Amino acid sequence: MRIKLFESEDKAKEVLEDSHPRLIIASDKEICIVRCGEELFAFQNACAHMGESLHKGNTNFLMEIVCPLHTYRFNMKTGEEAENRCSALKTYSIHRATDGIFIEM
Ligand code: FES
Repeated sequence: MRIKLFESEDKAKEVLEDSHPRLIIASDKEICIVRCGEELFAFQNACAHMGESLHKGNTNFLMEIVCPLHTYRFNMKTGEEAENRCSALKTYSIHRATDGIFIEM
């Protein structure tokens, strides 16, 4: 199932500050979404270690989200933790179309 996130690329850039994680709710799920330049990443908001909210964390130059609680680092594309200390995050595909930007649930 695809859910529309933004009407356009410009709207996404307007709403999502570069490299700043945001929380959205889609299909009753908490999803963390991050825009890094032209790329968009979407993954489960609950940290795979102990469930902290990842939208409260930061990103780094390696395109990782860093959990604010114990600083585990997750690749935002694959969801994998940098040192394999816990399971990977569930990630979601982002689709760009002429009528908007969508997340695949
Ligand atoms: S809860 Fe995220 S690293 Fe521990």
